[in-house]
Amino acid sequence: MKSRVLSGVQPTGNLHIGNYLGAIKNWVRIQHDYESIFCIVDLHAITVYQPPEELRSKILEIAGLFIASGIDPKHSAMVVQSTVHGHAELSWLLTCVTPIGWLERMTQYKAKSQAQETIGDGLLQYPVLMAADILIYQAGIVPVGDDQAQHLELARDIAQRFNSLYGDTFVMPATSLPLVGARVMGLDDPTKKMSKSAAGAGHAVALLDEPGVIRKKIMRATTDSQPAVDFAHLGEGVVNLLSIFQGFSGWSQSRMEAHFAGMRYGDLKKQVAEMVVSHLEPLQQRYREITSDPAYLAGVLREGAERVSPIADATVRLVKQRMGLYTP
Ligand code: TYM
Repeated sequence: MKSRVLSGVQPTGNLHIGNYLGAIKNWVRIQHDYESIFCIVDLHAITVYQPPEELRSKILEIAGLFIASGIDPKHSAMVVQSTVHGHAELSWLLTCVTPIGWLERMTQYKAKSQAQETIGDGLLQYPVLMAADILIYQAGIVPVGDDQAQHLELARDIAQRFNSLYGDTFVMPATSLPLVGARVMGLDDPTKKMSKSAAGAGHAVALLDEPGVIRKKIMRATTDSQPAVDFAHLGEGVVNLLSIFQGFSGWSQSRMEAHFAGMRYGDLKKQVAEMVVSHLEPLQQRYREITSDPAYLAGVLREGAERVSPIADATVRLVKQRMGLYTP
């Protein structure tokens, strides 16, 4: 059987070049080699409050951006998580085999819960739902950015624990990280991961930013006190700019070094900005075409859910049987 690929994005904030280089670009690259499922994880989004109208429109925006980035909806299933009921159901079943200590150790939980006045239980359960997203389709490969690696380890731990308690049930999912762009850092502060939720006008380049805005953000990116690129002493900000260029261009390391060695930071930034704009402009053009027909997107999402629901239902049924639940 062809191995299955699964990954997902939360419909919150603005999708940025970190999401693209860390995850979506790889989905596009490998989608046709596998049976591929890409989720818009709205149930994860509500682990922190989202204004309902904003959430509804973000879901469609992300769907449009998936296709504009190159996801082929004829081949790959695009699914809104909450429309396939098994995700939430399996999440509960897995919750019952997951020790709380495993969840409390998650670094994203610790970081996110610090920012909340009251911590919703959903924030703690977040990675169990993520494990359910993956295990429900018996996915073998999960292409993500570096920040999801710990959640994926947990998904394997949960799968293993279930398998040892109830017998072999789940495929062990492997983490697939990109060689370049697994952790794109903030342009304003290269010690912090580029994030959808971080405030600050110069922090992230959104996939839908206008070319003028993209140029401005990159030209203002934080570098260091050196004047030019020195591959023997690269500061974090310059490493970040170079990896953004490399992620978009696909250049080899040796070509990067030959081209950028000794280049003044101002010129480096101009070239990075033009590389990003040259990729995002056509993507934005496709996005406008796709979203000019809302019925098309609704059809893609309906068809995606219809295609994967039988797989999800079969896994939930098997898990219930294994656990001794009533399955007439
Ligand atoms: P999310 O929505 O935060 O991010 C979507 C994808 O983008 C990657 N990413 C980055 N990659 C490189 N540099 C960055 N600065 C950067 N920021 C984000 C993320 O690693 C991710 O691959 N929990 C997940 C969504 C999810 C999921 C799943 C993923 C839910 N269920 C099942 C895989 C499988 C999340 O919040 O991603």
